[in-house]
Amino acid sequence: MNRTLVICKPDAVERGLVGEIIGRLERKGLSLVAAELRTIDAETAGRHYAEHEGKPFYGELVSFIGRSPALVAVVEGPDDTWKIVRTLMGPTNPAEAPPGTIRGDLATEMGENLIHGSDSADSAAREIDIFFPGLA
Ligand code: TYD
Ligand code: MG
Repeated sequence: MNRTLVICKPDAVERGLVGEIIGRLERKGLSLVAAELRTIDAETAGRHYAEHEGKPFYGELVSFIGRSPALVAVVEGPDDTWKIVRTLMGPTNPAEAPPGTIRGDLATEMGENLIHGSDSADSAAREIDIFFPGLA
């Protein structure tokens, strides 16, 4: 089995969409291994989003991800679970995300795009280790 990190971001919790989002992953055939509602502090957000440090949207991203509790989860499936989750999420910009995807169906703005999913097997291992050490 193979694991990836999923975050239902603060907008998802605020809008009551956590069940909808996790339900889509479960209906696809993925399973929850761990899940916790957490307010992500700036240091943790900085580690998680290290690749984006210095980009114009970085400050807003770190403040957004910590503005209220997020549902941080480890999701398990067969090979390349990270890729399955990314397909269900849709592209980063909800305006470009097709219907049928989480972002395409449920979001309108890049800065409030509901869900994070690791973008590679290496990212999944690194990110799981930040939030749930030992679970990767
Ligand atoms: P990124 O890792 O590129 O996207 P994804 O979440 O699809 O892996 O960017 C992380 C988050 O940063 C993204 O979900 C939303 C935000 N973001 C912006 O606000 N503006 C941007 O131009 C980009 C690229 C991302
Ligand atoms: Mg990313």
